[in-house]
Amino acid sequence: MNRERALVTGASSGIGREIARVLAAQDCDLVICARRRTELEALAEELTTSHGTTVEVVTADLSGSAGVEELIRRAGDVDILVNNAGFGTSGNHIDLDVKGELAMVDLNVRTLTHLSHHYGKQMAAKKSGRILNVASIAAFQPGPSMATYCATKSYVLSYSRALRHELKPKGVSVTALCPGPVVTGFQKAAGLNMGSMVMMSAVSAHKVAAVGVKAMRKGRREVIPGLMNKPMPLITRLTPVRMQLAIMDSVLK
Ligand SMILES: NC(=O)c1ccc[n+]([C@@H]2O[C@H](COP(=O)([O-])OP(=O)(O)OC[C@H]3O[C@@H](n4cnc5c(N)ncnc54)[C@H](OP(=O)(O)O)[C@@H]3O)[C@@H](O)[C@H]2O)c1
Repeated sequence: MNRERALVTGASSGIGREIARVLAAQDCDLVICARRRTELEALAEELTTSHGTTVEVVTADLSGSAGVEELIRRAGDVDILVNNAGFGTSGNHIDLDVKGELAMVDLNVRTLTHLSHHYGKQMAAKKSGRILNVASIAAFQPGPSMATYCATKSYVLSYSRALRHELKPKGVSVTALCPGPVVTGFQKAAGLNMGSMVMMSAVSAHKVAAVGVKAMRKGRREVIPGLMNKPMPLITRLTPVRMQLAIMDSVLK
C-alpha cells in the first residue's frame, strides 16, 4: 500500500512537532522543516524508531524565498501540507523593530501562501490532497500589542476559507486550525507573559495537533481546539470593535 507523504513546517518544537508525531502514528512518511537541525534530527530518529517512518529533514529559514524554494525542491510531491511555522511579537507596533515585523509577515503570510499555492496546484492536478494551515484564535479580532501577529492570522483564516472553497471541487481539502493559548516556544519568542485567566483556556500542544489532524482528515473548514475557546468567534461577532480592542488590549498587555 502507498504510504502518504506529509510536509510539516516548524516541526522542531511545539505544535508542529506534535503534528509530525500524530501523522507518523498514522503511517505517514514525513518531510520536516525548521531552522534548528538538532531538534529536527532528534524527532526524525524518534519517529523512525517508534513508527518506522521515513523522515526527510530540511533545515531552512522560511522567512525568505530562497529557503522556501529549497524546501519545495527537496520535498518533492506530498499528499499533506501542514503550514505551521510561525511566530509572534508583542509590544506597541511602532516601538518594535520593523525587520522583525516584516519577517513575521514573510513567514506567517508570504511563505504559507507560496507553499499553499505550489502544493495546492500539485494536489489539484492529481485530484487529491490535504492542506492544514495553522491560524490562531487571534485571527478573529484585532490585537493591540500584537497588531501584526493578529493581522497575519486573520489573513491565514480568510485565505484558507477561500482556498478551501476553490479547491474542494478539485478533491483537495483546506482546513484552518485556530488554537487558543498553547504552552510552547511561542510565548518566549513573542516576549509574552500570559495571565492566569488566559492560561486557564490553554490546551496541550499534543491535543491541538490531534484535533487539527482529525479536522483535516474530515475536510473541515476550520477547528478551534478546547471547549473554553470554541465560543470566541461568536462572542467576537456579538461584541462591538471598540470593546474587542479594549478587551484584547487588557489581555495582551
Ligand atoms: N503557542 C500558542 O499559544 C499558539 C496559539 C495559536 C497559534 N499558534 C501558532 O502555532 C504555530 C506553531 O507555533 P508554536 O506555538 O508551536 O511555537 P514554537 O514552539 O515556537 O514553534 C514554532 C516553529 O516554527 C519554526 N520557525 C520559526 N521561525 C522560522 C523560520 N524563520 N523558518 C523556519 N521555521 C521557523 C520554529 O523552528 P526553528 O526555530 O527551529 O526555526 C518552530 O519549529 C505558529 O504558526 C503559531 O502562530 C500558536
